[in-house]
Amino acid sequence: MSTAISPTAYNYKVVRQFAIMTVVWGILGMGLGVFIASQLVWPQLNFGLPWTTFGRLRPLHTNLVIFAFGGCALFATSYYVVQRTCQTRLISDGLAAFTFWGWQAVILGAIITLPLGYTTTKEYAELEWPIAILLAIVWVTYAVVFFGTIVKRKTKHIYVGNWFYGAFILVTAMLHIVNHASLPVSWFKSYSAYAGATDAMIQWWYGHNAVGFFLTTGFLGMMYYFVPKQAERPIYSYRLSIVHFWALITLYIWAGPHHLHYTALPDWAQSLGMAMSIILLAPSWGGMINGMMTLSGAWHKLRTDPILRFLVVSLAFYGMSTFEGPMMAIKTVNSLSHYTDWTIGHVHAGALGWVAMISIGALYHMIPKLFGRAQMHSVGLINTHFWLATIGTVLYIASMWVNGITQGLMWRAINDDGTLTYSFVEALQASHPGYIVRALGGAFFAAGMLFMAYNVWRTVRASDPAEAEAAAKIAVVGAH
Ligand code: HEM
Ligand code: HEM
Repeated sequence: MSTAISPTAYNYKVVRQFAIMTVVWGILGMGLGVFIASQLVWPQLNFGLPWTTFGRLRPLHTNLVIFAFGGCALFATSYYVVQRTCQTRLISDGLAAFTFWGWQAVILGAIITLPLGYTTTKEYAELEWPIAILLAIVWVTYAVVFFGTIVKRKTKHIYVGNWFYGAFILVTAMLHIVNHASLPVSWFKSYSAYAGATDAMIQWWYGHNAVGFFLTTGFLGMMYYFVPKQAERPIYSYRLSIVHFWALITLYIWAGPHHLHYTALPDWAQSLGMAMSIILLAPSWGGMINGMMTLSGAWHKLRTDPILRFLVVSLAFYGMSTFEGPMMAIKTVNSLSHYTDWTIGHVHAGALGWVAMISIGALYHMIPKLFGRAQMHSVGLINTHFWLATIGTVLYIASMWVNGITQGLMWRAINDDGTLTYSFVEALQASHPGYIVRALGGAFFAAGMLFMAYNVWRTVRASDPAEAEAAAKIAVVGAH
């Protein structure tokens, strides 16, 4: 095996840009999460203005955390991973730069239009048609850059992480384009091309697979690269990763109807969604176990490496939320959990515990390498961040379990004469302490992001451009 330094280098510029914006949008999106969580404790914070009401800021929160924070983390890591595992530069710097600026423009569009009340009203697909079209163009360009780079790879195999990223990119394009089909009636208003129960079914086919492919499959791509790298161990089982991939992508796509239990959707479709959701436990746990077992023989590293802790704890929360999800998909359980804070707790077990934690771990691994530094400015601050994030997540999800089950039981309690035992307001009053704990947990999590911003800023400020350039040089190993 000969090692030669080739004259070309990876495109780290676009990775750096997306990585920094992940931190910026993380702080804004989570800060807004703490704000709307506080509105549920102190309604005065709605300020009596239409733009600052919970109803308008909630979709801005979801768009910022999923598409701005999560999206930038996925762009940054996928561009980093695809170059390094294919040992080649991105196929086009210009197109990659277009995806960066185009994506920021989409986010800016969301920040302006959502508080003004322009919305399609479809959850996670709220952006009106001009922004949705821009998003589709950026996404197709992303696919061209990603798959184009795979095509010109210098390696024989396509590393499994790229399979996950690839599926996430393809399916997200399909979901977005199909669910957004609509008839525009003005610049800021459009009507869905679908009607009634069909519209609902397509919306939740989109919504669930946004979870399955955007919030899960893409982040599994991240897991398959950064866990082995940080643990300095090969992935536990390459065979399991292949089974994991095909099982996950074949099953996820059928589970959407579990969002529409006890609705006008045909009963058979609801039952199919329920059955597929239960089966989904198997590939989810297969992936979780594959990640966890990668630490075999390296568990001691957890004592000293807070980055590895972020990655491993994110897998634990992934395992937990993918156990909880199939349970909630059982119709009788869903009749209790639906409409309650239990769903919100489940969402954030996945969103904070899994999505945010794995992204944070990956960023801490990647940022020093992107800026030509040996490691982050302060390992102690990473450790502080880890504990703030873990405690914040636990406070968030525990309070929402208590609230969710309390609400579900109070709403269904009936007296002997068939009247309701509790009024809605009584259930709301019982939820108030939980809302305080949730806001506190969220504040912990968001505070951790501020420590991260400081640590990243110090690392970037001390970066050495010559070192950074040298780090981006492609070292082609062996024959190709
Ligand atoms: C500091 C951290 C965060 C706080 C305090 C927070 C708070 C909230 C609040 C108060 C809601 C509205 C709940 C309701 O309607 O009753 C919400 C919804 C939501 N948040 Fe967060 N959030 C945080 C981070 C995140 C992150 C990082 C993600 C995703 C990666 C996320 C994804 C969502 C989603 C998808 C919903 C909608 C849930 C649903 O409709 O069932 N959040 N969040
Ligand atoms: C095997 C895996 C999973 C299954 C079967 C599953 C199942 C479910 C079920 C049954 C609901 C409640 C639907 C309702 O009553 O309205 C739900 C809601 C949700 N789950 Fe999961 N879940 C899984 C994993 C995850 C993960 C890992 C995440 C996050 C990264 C996540 C994010 C969400 C979100 C955002 C919602 C709320 C959707 C909404 O109503 O706005 N899920 N999930």
